[in-house]
Amino acid sequence: MKLRSPFAFVIGLILLISCQHNKINKTMNNANNKADSLINLMTLEEKIGQMNQLMNFVDTLPIESKFYNLIKEGKIGSVLNSFSPEMTREMQRIAVEESRLGIPLLVGRDVIHGYRTIFPVNIGLAATFNPDLVKECAKIAAAEARSEGINWTFAPMMDISRDPRWGRMAESSGEDPYLTEQMAMANIKGFQGENLSNKNSIAATAKHYVGYGAAIGGRDYNTTLIPETELRNVYLRPFKVAVEANVATVMSGFNELNGVPTSGNEYTIKEILKEEWNFNGFVVSDWASIKNLAIHGYAKDSLDATYKALRAGVDMDMCSSHYIENLKSLINNGTITQNQIDDAVKRILKIKFELGLFENPYATKESTLLTEYSKDIATKAVIQSTVLLQNKNKVLPLSKDIKKVAVIGPLADAPYEQMGTWVFDGKEENTITPLKAIEEFLGAEKVNYAPGLKISRTQNKNGFSEAIKAAKNSDVVLLFMGDESILTGEAHCRAKLTLPGYQNELIEEISKLGKPTVLVIMTGVILMVEPYLNQVDALFYGWHPGTMGGSGYVDLLFGIEPPSGKLPMTFPRTEGQIPIYYNHNNTGHPASDESWIRMYDIPEKAWQTSLGNTNHYLDYGFEPLFEFGFGLSYTKFNYSEIKLSKDILSMNDSLIVTAKIKNTGDFVAEDVAQLYVRDLVGSIVRPVKELKRFQRIKLNPGEEKIIEFVLFPKDLEFHNGKEWVIEPGDFHIWIGNSSKASLMSKFELIQ
Ligand code: BGC
Repeated sequence: MKLRSPFAFVIGLILLISCQHNKINKTMNNANNKADSLINLMTLEEKIGQMNQLMNFVDTLPIESKFYNLIKEGKIGSVLNSFSPEMTREMQRIAVEESRLGIPLLVGRDVIHGYRTIFPVNIGLAATFNPDLVKECAKIAAAEARSEGINWTFAPMMDISRDPRWGRMAESSGEDPYLTEQMAMANIKGFQGENLSNKNSIAATAKHYVGYGAAIGGRDYNTTLIPETELRNVYLRPFKVAVEANVATVMSGFNELNGVPTSGNEYTIKEILKEEWNFNGFVVSDWASIKNLAIHGYAKDSLDATYKALRAGVDMDMCSSHYIENLKSLINNGTITQNQIDDAVKRILKIKFELGLFENPYATKESTLLTEYSKDIATKAVIQSTVLLQNKNKVLPLSKDIKKVAVIGPLADAPYEQMGTWVFDGKEENTITPLKAIEEFLGAEKVNYAPGLKISRTQNKNGFSEAIKAAKNSDVVLLFMGDESILTGEAHCRAKLTLPGYQNELIEEISKLGKPTVLVIMTGVILMVEPYLNQVDALFYGWHPGTMGGSGYVDLLFGIEPPSGKLPMTFPRTEGQIPIYYNHNNTGHPASDESWIRMYDIPEKAWQTSLGNTNHYLDYGFEPLFEFGFGLSYTKFNYSEIKLSKDILSMNDSLIVTAKIKNTGDFVAEDVAQLYVRDLVGSIVRPVKELKRFQRIKLNPGEEKIIEFVLFPKDLEFHNGKEWVIEPGDFHIWIGNSSKASLMSKFELIQ
């Protein structure tokens, strides 16, 4: 019986009429009903097929017969990565036109920080502290991806990351749950739009559920041990917000969490995500993470792994092929039920209906790739993400009348590397490198270019003399140093976080020349930059900036736009301080400038605690190099007069917090005003400071504005290991432009 065409036609008609101007909820109800009726028409094999996601390793047409048959027989519900738009179209055509029920494929891809227009890596995007801008980036990425047939991205990643050794910190929003939440929401809204069925929307994925960023030692895939309080208050928080923002899918992780791998974890997936939060999208495993259950030693064999993943609530199997191979036998021997299968399939079909794939399975025909608008937004993102860490003698901004500038370093003209990790679709030829942009801005005749090192890992000094000559013959030296893209990201973690190759030596040689020197670091991770502070005048942390890196840097270097990026992660002075993050709990022995003991001040044969006993290192103290939220501008901002609308806040009320900000310098500039809170006494110890709000604010020289934030008791909620509570008591509150904000006030929360 060939039900495919009439069924697809009727569904298409209904959807066309009913979905056009619907709001998300209505669409969801419709999608639910439609998924229900479709399930009734499906065989068990077809259902299991929907739960199977497969990567096609061959990128040529016509499609290999084995693969063609699987799609035709309805044994694949989704495909991912590594195929051309033509391939995508053909696979989709087979599913829609040749499979019995014509169910379209979910076409997934890692659209992580842009599709063709590549934006700064995600940690850089977080440094913008600008969710509106990040949302716009995601919206552009979605439209570009959909224009080539992709309808699902495996983003945003919302793993809290407090360890820069972890290469995947590049994909994260850093150490803070609130900032991560804001970035996650911005991305989801950007990818999914108002309504998933909008022609430019794609489904988003909240990943990696959960705790993946807490890998012990920062080594990717490593075990994670997270107590319930920290799991709830730190790691789960962004996911909860993502579910509230209607994220379509969640990806279970690779990590083992407190003894149970996250892709077989009933507690986190079934109980928390699906039952407690009522998540009604679907859960996809990470790449072969169902198969990994046996490698972890959590499942006996592939059958057992399949059972445990399904039992936990994983609805779709990414690339293990375990579901397609084993689910039928598990049904037949009564280990799992039809209901479990139906629930998973319904969730998957619902997203397909919501995306409008039954009417519009193919690529949008619009050519939206790399437009002038997307390039402008990408440039803006570079400008707002780059963090100025030092500007001695006001060496920056540079004058446009400069006579000669030396451009040096392996990242100065490395179009591929500057795009950063997870880039499938960005093109080198579209990328504006620093060299290209500076030559265009000043005129090539004013630029002395000598990379000094061929690539970031080059371990010889062959290019040094040319670089030194270029520097000697110039008025200013611009150093573009950093990491090749492959030195960051998944499975690329480092124990030593210094610039690779002979870059340190090159910086040292150049610094001996005594020329005004600016260092721009281009990477996805946090490197130990303390040594450079004495060697160069100015230091920009430019991340891997993406397609428009050069253009954004030129605007910053020459003062067309002043810097305003802020650190989304604490910068340690040395690797031995890791993990170090601003929102830690207090100890019973907190350190201070007065109390920390410097190693070389200790007299011989001193008694253990005679000089004091606080929480610090003898050699590196207790402070980081740069704190979370830090970033300089070309101007100065002064914060004063913090005021609260009340000193006593009751549970059903709100608190208005204001402060005065003045631009006391000479540049029109933006600052990120940040509000932090400390709950002084709790039923569990509360962090010494927590970011609760932030806002970008633009001021002319001499201009003063009142900044206003509104807080609610709900913002003070935390999980005490058993339940969510808002506890009455005393609070401190700060406003300023980093986590070291000192402008403080107090209030009391009462019942
Ligand atoms: C990564 C995921 C990614 C998936 C598909 C995995 O290795 O952990 O983040 O989405 O591959 O490419």
